Amino acid sequence: MHQPEEWRFTPPKGDLAKGRQAFVKFECYSCHQVIGENFPAPGGEAIGPELRQMGPIHPPEYFVESIMNPSAVIGEDRYRGADGRSKMPSFNEIMTVEELIDLATFLKSLGGAHIPSPRGQKH
Ligand code: HEC
Repeated sequence: MHQPEEWRFTPPKGDLAKGRQAFVKFECYSCHQVIGENFPAPGGEAIGPELRQMGPIHPPEYFVESIMNPSAVIGEDRYRGADGRSKMPSFNEIMTVEELIDLATFLKSLGGAHIPSPRGQKH
């Protein structure tokens, strides 16, 4: 396989507000807490990692992969189902590519300078 030297998978920049809407639409909050956001609290057995902390440590394409192919990287064994795959379900048949891109942009924004201070100013 020949790839250009510096090639890297890069999703286009998406819409942060639409990404937050998609997070609600697909009820991602049912398994993921996002500190600093007012989503309903997670519940059930398949709870995944808190996501605000993930913003600064991963590039957008990591988030695209996490959503499109949850079993590609599984941080801890407690996140695995009996079949060894991720407990995170696939959304591929119901999510548009645009929603995927917007979700990656939303997740990437978390924990960084985009979280407004209590007075609504940016830090
Ligand atoms: C039924 C529970 C469940 C739902 C619903 C769910 N997730 Fe997950 N998610 C998990 C689990 C468990 C993991 C950890 C294992 C893994 O990485 O697949 C995870 C991992 C992730 C990760 C990777 C975190 C990391 O650092 O590796 C991201 C990003 C993520 N989910 C985003 C989402 C988004 C966005 C949605 C909604 C479209 C969503 N999840 C819906 C359970 C869920």
